Amino acid sequence: MKICIAYESKFGNGKGCMEYLQGVMSKKGHDVEMLSVREIEPTSLPSADLYIFSSPTQIGSLAGKMKKFLKKLEISQGGAKYAPVTTCLNPPKTKSLKTMEKLLQSRDLSKVSDGLMIKVTGMKGPLESGYKEKLDTFAEDILKSLQ
Ligand SMILES: Cc1cc2nc3c(=O)[nH]c(=O)nc-3n(C[C@H](O)[C@H](O)[C@H](O)COP(=O)(O)O)c2cc1C
Repeated sequence: MKICIAYESKFGNGKGCMEYLQGVMSKKGHDVEMLSVREIEPTSLPSADLYIFSSPTQIGSLAGKMKKFLKKLEISQGGAKYAPVTTCLNPPKTKSLKTMEKLLQSRDLSKVSDGLMIKVTGMKGPLESGYKEKLDTFAEDILKSLQ
């Protein structure tokens, strides 16, 4: 399966999570491409069966760069799926996953997961212990739901 990860990351924590996820999914035989929303236009994402969008939570919701990216997103491939991810200090309070869902609901994309919240223990990190296990389970659940 072709998987595209589009991420924003200010301090590198979300990027590290997505690199780990890319490794996990690649090992399972998938073709996983990872791109920063800072380096690609929202109209130029490669076609893929599954998109993973990952953003830090900032001021309670999605980081501005990801919000702008998703507002202008154009995906040419019909019937693709997506799954949202956020890193944040306070998982119960983040609205990032819901905001991503709202921004994507008018697109020809269907959600395959309610999403994943990974905690950072300080503004700049580090990530909570156990984040790798969360990402392992997340990958397994998404891939199972696509079979
Ligand atoms: C300007 C700013 C505002 C933030 N606001 C929140 C917030 O409202 N809630 C929260 O849980 N984390 C907040 N954070 C912490 C970020 O979620 C954290 O820095 C980020 O998840 C780290 O991931 P990154 O290294 O990929 O950027 C904020 C961080 C910044 C820089």
